[in-house]
Amino acid sequence: MSVAEIQLKLLAPEQIPAVIALEQAATEFPWTQKMYIDSLAAGYWGGGLWQGPRLVGAAVVSTGVGEAHLLNMCVALEHQGQGYGRMLLAGACQQAGDEGARKMFLEVRAGNGRALSLYQSVGFRQIGVRKNYYPGALGREDAVCMALNLCQ
Ligand SMILES: CC(C)(COP(=O)(O)OP(=O)(O)OC[C@H]1O[C@@H](n2cnc3c(N)ncnc32)[C@H](O)[C@@H]1OP(=O)(O)O)[C@@H](O)C(=O)NCCC(=O)NCCS
Repeated sequence: MSVAEIQLKLLAPEQIPAVIALEQAATEFPWTQKMYIDSLAAGYWGGGLWQGPRLVGAAVVSTGVGEAHLLNMCVALEHQGQGYGRMLLAGACQQAGDEGARKMFLEVRAGNGRALSLYQSVGFRQIGVRKNYYPGALGREDAVCMALNLCQ
């Protein structure tokens, strides 16, 4: 499969079920259909990463007054570890910058080492911790709050 066949495209509402199926298989804590519908209706950017006809990942970003928030990001389980997360994140940052954001913020579960490594590797820095922020299978889990300057 060549790199040319990989494309990041705006998510359409009718693609939400495919994103949900991908996310339910890839993470213990997927977004609900309502979260996607509400996000797109609010005008947030939703991006789908496609390898030919196959959806391999998706991300949602809200942008306003010079700041962006990466609200969700997921790569299909069978495609993880192949660079798609990095591509998706780069596309989300590019999109946010194009919409005028100078900074990108995100929150990530403290136990999500894979996502933390990815974010740190592109320059996100920890700016705080929200204690017991997320519900989890074994009780509440902290959120690590991170930020990245988009204008270097
Ligand atoms: C987090 C996630 C998006 C990463 O996507 P991915 O396609 O697997 O990541 P990539 O292949 O692009 O790897 C990018 C970086 O992630 C980190 N990473 C990837 N796989 C990893 C692993 N098994 N262990 C530790 N770090 C890992 C590395 O820093 C890697 O960079 P490198 O390959 O240069 O070392 C993906 O694992 C995912 O969708 N997880 C479930 C949903 C989720 O946790 N979303 C984030 C919510 S905040």
